[in-house]
Amino acid sequence: MGTDGFVSCLKERELEEGKIRAVRVKGKPILLAKVAGEVFGVSNFCPHAGCGFQGGILTGYILMCPCHGWKFDVRNGQYQDSPQTALTCYRCKIENGKICVEIKK
Ligand code: FES
Repeated sequence: MGTDGFVSCLKERELEEGKIRAVRVKGKPILLAKVAGEVFGVSNFCPHAGCGFQGGILTGYILMCPCHGWKFDVRNGQYQDSPQTALTCYRCKIENGKICVEIKK
């Protein structure tokens, strides 16, 4: 881990534009999504029934869970049908060709 709390987890070229990818960073299941050249990280655990989002569909910034179709905005984790529900978000940055995710202690 760098001194700034960001952990390198994937080469940037391993995540294509408009795609998602499940990773584990420091034991946390995180889903990465790349939209408009920016990478977003959310917890890879659907609050509905606990499915992982790999295999889900990303349309713009909206991620649809593969299990029952709940939709979340990857920019803020917000569940589209209820403001009370949101995924945990992880800040991401691209450094030296690597995607780095911020893991707070
Ligand atoms: S587990 Fe994600 S929508 Fe049901």
